[in-house]
Amino acid sequence: MMDEPEKIKRSRSVAGHKVKRERYVRRFVNRFLTMEGIGVMLLDSDFRIVEVSDMIVSLCGLPRPDIVDKYAEQWFDEVGLRPWPFDRSLLEGQTFRNRVLNWRQDKQLHKLMIDGEHLTEGEARTGAFVLFRDVSHRMALEEQVRRSDRLKTIGQIAAGTAHEIRNPLTAIKGFIQLLNKSLKDRDMEKEQEFVGIVLSELDRVNDLVSEFLLLSKPKELRQVSMRIGGVIQEILPMIRNEALLHNVTVIYYPKPEMPPILADKELLKQVFLNLGKNAIEAMDGGGTLIIRECSSSEEPGRITVEFRDTGPGIPADVLDKVFDPFFTTKPQGTGLGLSVCQRIVDDLGGSIEVTSDGYGTLFVVGLPCS
Ligand SMILES: Nc1ncnc2c1ncn2[C@@H]1O[C@H](COP(=O)(O)OP(=O)(O)O)[C@@H](O)[C@H]1O
Ligand SMILES: [Mg+2]
Repeated sequence: MMDEPEKIKRSRSVAGHKVKRERYVRRFVNRFLTMEGIGVMLLDSDFRIVEVSDMIVSLCGLPRPDIVDKYAEQWFDEVGLRPWPFDRSLLEGQTFRNRVLNWRQDKQLHKLMIDGEHLTEGEARTGAFVLFRDVSHRMALEEQVRRSDRLKTIGQIAAGTAHEIRNPLTAIKGFIQLLNKSLKDRDMEKEQEFVGIVLSELDRVNDLVSEFLLLSKPKELRQVSMRIGGVIQEILPMIRNEALLHNVTVIYYPKPEMPPILADKELLKQVFLNLGKNAIEAMDGGGTLIIRECSSSEEPGRITVEFRDTGPGIPADVLDKVFDPFFTTKPQGTGLGLSVCQRIVDDLGGSIEVTSDGYGTLFVVGLPCS
């Protein structure tokens, strides 16, 4: 048996421990409510918002007093969430997990995963809470992995078929040219015209096969140390020529003190040519293409090259697809240009990203320094 004073001491220490624990839990809750990557919304049994964490406040851009006490539906409408990400069935126990919610904030798209759980006290329903996790970054990484996996498969197919197509093409082209000569000798003008069409179509197939070949596993990367400026200088005349035909102005901002990079020059030229070509093609009625070299002390091991155009931009639902092989919005497009860029940049250990805000498009190529 415990004597009385011992009992009191013990219960005092238990009470003290409880207070300490509650304080600790409260501190955790407060900290949780200010976390950046995770948001929480607490709802009462009328589906009114009781509390939201900082992440929700910053996502929806409304001050907290304008959120709290509103019916959830009213808030969905005010922040433009349509269709509603969840409804009152949550209060009845219709919980959900990992529901995807695309949240557009200004011009940025946030991919959120939300979980909803109802709260009860005994038999009574007291409300619900919803957790919001920002998974944009993770999804972008997963997308990159998926993209390169897809490219690898296509690369294998390309390696197996492109040469098989190209060899007969070369033979066909050779004989057609011979035929053309005979037609010329006999002054058969109409037939010469037909043959001309065949030849130009053959060139198109040949171009397609060449791009396709670039997707196949590269023979051997010839990675040497070089200055990015030198590479751009070499392709600039070609881009300027093309730009002239489309009434596009090209502005190039070199950066003299750029650290050297480790890359394969011919492949890198291919990347920049494709980006330049796409930008010019996007600005049919004229515009400006800005090519800029950047390096920052925050990322000393990496440089970037930007291709920014003043074209129509890329709609959000198309943006996810531009790197897909064979995705094109052009009548004469192959849809392989950006796939080739992605493939090459992957092999060089770099990255390629695109953003577009409706006033143009920005492609950023990141490359490792040597
Ligand atoms: N700078 C850009 N501005 C607008 N759309 C672009 C731009 N670059 C690429 N795109 C879009 O991405 C698609 C795929 O590009 P790409 O892979 O080079 O194939 P292609 O040029 O043959 O269509 C294009 O058809 C176009 O819709
Ligand atoms: Mg292209």
